Amino acid sequence: MSYLNGMLKPDALEGKNILITGGGTGLGKSMGKYFLELGANLIIASRKLEVLRMTAKELESEVKRGSVLPLACDLREVDQVEAMFESAVEKLGHIDVVVNNAAGNFISPTERLSANAFQTVIDIVLKGTVNMTMTAGKHWIETRQPGTFLNIVTTYAWTGSGYVVPSATAKAGVLAMTRSLAVEWAKYRLRFNAIAPGPFPTEGAWSRLLPGELADEFDPAKRIPLKRVGEHQELANLAAYLVSDFSAYVNGEVITIDGGEWLNGAGQ
Ligand code: HXC
Repeated sequence: MSYLNGMLKPDALEGKNILITGGGTGLGKSMGKYFLELGANLIIASRKLEVLRMTAKELESEVKRGSVLPLACDLREVDQVEAMFESAVEKLGHIDVVVNNAAGNFISPTERLSANAFQTVIDIVLKGTVNMTMTAGKHWIETRQPGTFLNIVTTYAWTGSGYVVPSATAKAGVLAMTRSLAVEWAKYRLRFNAIAPGPFPTEGAWSRLLPGELADEFDPAKRIPLKRVGEHQELANLAAYLVSDFSAYVNGEVITIDGGEWLNGAGQ
């Protein structure tokens, strides 16, 4: 669809170094591709270095602009997050934006989840985001550099929703942190916003997350007023705006991009 491209000027992110957690696949990769097209350099971080390397190669050859640095890191381990961030600063000189995008989720009746399953999602989503945010935030405060955070949450962070209780719990925490630090760290020129995406199909997580017995409950045609799922470029457009200087006065906001799904009572 032609309206999808060219929302921002081709130099909208020129000179920005943008770190995306979970940037090797899915929505993280799609946002990264558009950031590159707009002149940014990327650092993509996740546990799987092989996947990151393949994505870096693919994006660099497709976009032919900017650079992509793949760095392995388990976000649950603060030492690994700090080492990854230090190595990114060493290679690129400065980091300007952190996109907290990495997530894990199980769609399951809650009573069937083990304590470890619950903990796993909380650790990746909440603890991982806290680790990344504290690491980048403390660095920016110490070096007196401005910085921008973009946190990917979901609408059930505030509506609640069945079958995704660990994820909803963790994302509610991420949203609370987004708003709280938007207030507290504004004095350091650090800006925080969030995006709450509705359904955007991805190669891996989408099919893995929707087990047959629950698929009907998640049928987009039944849930979404616009009767379709989202296009990755639509999310990338919003993300690019929120990490760019065009949104410099937007702070502590969460913007939903879901075709009207949550207002239609999804999650109730
Ligand atoms: C219930 C499960 C499970 C499942 C594993 N477990 N799969 N429980 N349902 N489908 C249990 C295991 O038995 C184990 O508990 C515990 O969870 C940890 O399992 P591991 O396999 O060791 O987990 P690990 O490999 O560390 O990480 C799991 C993961 C990973 C985080 C979910 O698969 C992952 O990184 N996925 C890709 C990212 C992802 O899912 N992204 C989607 C986010 S979308 P026991 O007790 O046996 O030890 C999103 C928005 C929602 O968040 C969109 C809704 C449509």
